[in-house]
Amino acid sequence: MLRVSMVLLLRQLILCVWVCVSSALVVHSLPWSVYCPAGCVCQIKPWFSPQSLSCEVPTVDCNNLFLTQLPSPLPLNTHTLCLQSNLLSALETPLLHTLPNLTELDLSQNRFSSVMTLTLTEPQIPSLRSLLSLHMEENQLRSLPPASFSSLPALQELFLSHNQLASLAPGAFSGLGSLLLEVLPERGFQALGSLRSLVLGGMGLKGLPERALEGLDSLESLSFYDNLLTTVPTQALRRLPGLKFLDLNKNRLKLGLNNMEELVAIERAAMENLPELTKLEITNNPRLSYIHPQAFFRLGRLESLMLNSNALTALHQHTVLSLPSLREVSLHSNPLRCDCLFRWYIVSKDNVTSRDDL
Ligand SMILES: *[C@@H]1O[C@H](CO)[C@@H](O)[C@H](O)[C@H]1NC(C)=O
Ligand SMILES: *[C@@H]1O[C@H](CO)[C@@H](O)[C@H](O)[C@H]1NC(C)=O
Repeated sequence: MLRVSMVLLLRQLILCVWVCVSSALVVHSLPWSVYCPAGCVCQIKPWFSPQSLSCEVPTVDCNNLFLTQLPSPLPLNTHTLCLQSNLLSALETPLLHTLPNLTELDLSQNRFSSVMTLTLTEPQIPSLRSLLSLHMEENQLRSLPPASFSSLPALQELFLSHNQLASLAPGAFSGLGSLLLEVLPERGFQALGSLRSLVLGGMGLKGLPERALEGLDSLESLSFYDNLLTTVPTQALRRLPGLKFLDLNKNRLKLGLNNMEELVAIERAAMENLPELTKLEITNNPRLSYIHPQAFFRLGRLESLMLNSNALTALHQHTVLSLPSLREVSLHSNPLRCDCLFRWYIVSKDNVTSRDDL
């Protein structure tokens, strides 16, 4: 008897714990007295911004309603509009543009085959200036034309997974200056096994996960033009068996050519294709004895030139004079000869940040 009641007590205890936890998890929605479109639910609900700040916002939830067009009328101060799992393939943009505070728009699991209907704006109609978050996952998008999202200048989050994207035009993402995207996801392109050319330009990319480009088995041309990469993403690039052209222009690249037994000379304009290079490190190359006076031609942004521990007997003045942004040169541990060819360095070395002993 005692045992049975103990079991019961235990059950009650578990029940109580469960109730308490689950009631703590209940999301508190407040009624929002407004004229709500038929079938939709209008409430004041908690919302997390792309930067994970939470607030209570006017939300119109029209998910799962077999809608083929935008419900109307939509309350003017709608903040979040949920249209997930409907049959939408186009939007009456002017209607959407009457919502000045629209911040999140969820169009996932619909039938969009183009983003144009969403983003095409007429001159007199303001764009969706306050939209921070756009969900378009699980639609039928096949391509993104240039400046696909340019009427959404504030956008910080864009979800495009599970579409049939086969081509991204150059500048497809241009105008998205606010997007919070510093790295690409792992295997984000996995379904694009036939893609030949990919431009990931001007996206503020700072790095690339090792598996970011996995699955792009036919890719021949890849551009990271105008990003913030500081190193060549070699690990990620190893996953591209067919790559022939790589564009890393306009990044913040640092290049290291170190510990190369066979490197004997650096010829004229050897780095000509890397005009964005800010740091160049050519060290510990036991046979490197010659650097052409114009070897670093066109490296207008180079700030730091490290040439330690090579076999250099001289460095032509022109090599350094051709680098307008140079702030630091390091030449220690080279068999430098203090002859006329090198007098300039001894004279000017006080002007250079790094003062290695010769
Ligand atoms: C939009 O938000 C601003 C700032 O919160 C508010 O003052 C304004 O009334 C809102 N507009 C509408 C149409 O509700
Ligand atoms: C070193 O700097 C001084 C003053 O900044 C300048 O007058 C001089 O020409 C510089 N010397 C060389 C060799 O660049």
